[in-house]
Amino acid sequence: MMIKSLRRLLTLLVVLMSVSVVMPSYAANEQTSQQMANAEQSTADMWRAVKAGEVGTTAATEVEAGVLINTFGNEGKIIKNDYINPAMMAVVVGVFSIFLIFFLVNGPSKLTKGFSGKMVLRWSRADVILHWGMAISCFALILTGLTIMLGRHIIQPFIGHEAWAFIIHFCKTVHDWVGPVFFVFWAICVLKWMPRQTFKSYDLKWFLVAGGYINFGPFKGKHPHSGYANAGEKMWFWSLAIFGLFICTTGLMLVFPGLALPREVAMIAVLVHGVSAIVIIGFTIVHIWMATALSEGGLECMKSGYCDENWAIQHHDIWYDEIKANGSLKYQD
Ligand code: HEM
Repeated sequence: MMIKSLRRLLTLLVVLMSVSVVMPSYAANEQTSQQMANAEQSTADMWRAVKAGEVGTTAATEVEAGVLINTFGNEGKIIKNDYINPAMMAVVVGVFSIFLIFFLVNGPSKLTKGFSGKMVLRWSRADVILHWGMAISCFALILTGLTIMLGRHIIQPFIGHEAWAFIIHFCKTVHDWVGPVFFVFWAICVLKWMPRQTFKSYDLKWFLVAGGYINFGPFKGKHPHSGYANAGEKMWFWSLAIFGLFICTTGLMLVFPGLALPREVAMIAVLVHGVSAIVIIGFTIVHIWMATALSEGGLECMKSGYCDENWAIQHHDIWYDEIKANGSLKYQD
């Protein structure tokens, strides 16, 4: 009897002890998983806020230091990658191909009366130097800029990792340093050449007959009036003046990190820089086609500063009549 009672007591003790051990650990488990759920929830909330661009707190004092992810930056990146980069590719390939086909079908615009052999002063030595300073720096910017913008798609897949790293570093360094050089040449050219670039009523006629460059149909043999600069050159000049201002301003904003711009402003600068580059590159391709292949005798102007007298009469008759009338016509010795 005594042993039976002792056994019951022992069993009761064991049961009580087991319950007292299991219960707290069960409670603790419940508490831990609740804490983990809470922590997960608050981490998710935090990342949602970060992705939404919310401002946090930090001891850092730089502009927008409390913003981990700038939402406008992401939107800008999408605009750049999905629209500006493909547009740039389309403009480079499209404009070049259109002019190549036009040249193959139409041929160059020849001098109707051939070369006279008498060379007339058109550009001063300073103008020629300024032109080539602007053209060479612009060319370096175009090549390095296109590599920075599109090289990831058209160069990187075909070369090794190290070669690409070298190319992109080289292009970025050249782009950063040549930018201010172009800015100086651009500013001088724009200010110096601006007075000759005002549009006149006869410029409309120039556009209507495509400048007299078409060698077939009703356009054949047409030589529209033109002053020092023709209507096409004026359009080129003003595009370069306006978009050059945009590209130089945004370029300087981007090349000096010390300016500590808010990221929205920096992203707008990137987008304006890209759009301006598309316009300038498109016009540059047209300009080089016109100067080198389409206009017989035209390139001589920027080689020596002189042009053939027949070229001046055919392409810039109003300017030629003017300098002849006021006595400033100067022949090469
Ligand atoms: C291989 C490259 C280039 C060649 C062969 C070239 C050739 C020429 C020629 C021959 C002229 C004189 C046209 C005339 O007297 O009517 C000229 C004018 C001009 N060029 Fe270029 N150029 C080149 C690149 C550039 C570039 C890259 C720029 C711009 C950054 C540029 C901007 C200008 C401007 C603004 C004018 C004056 C247009 C005017 O108002 O008459 N050129 N170029």
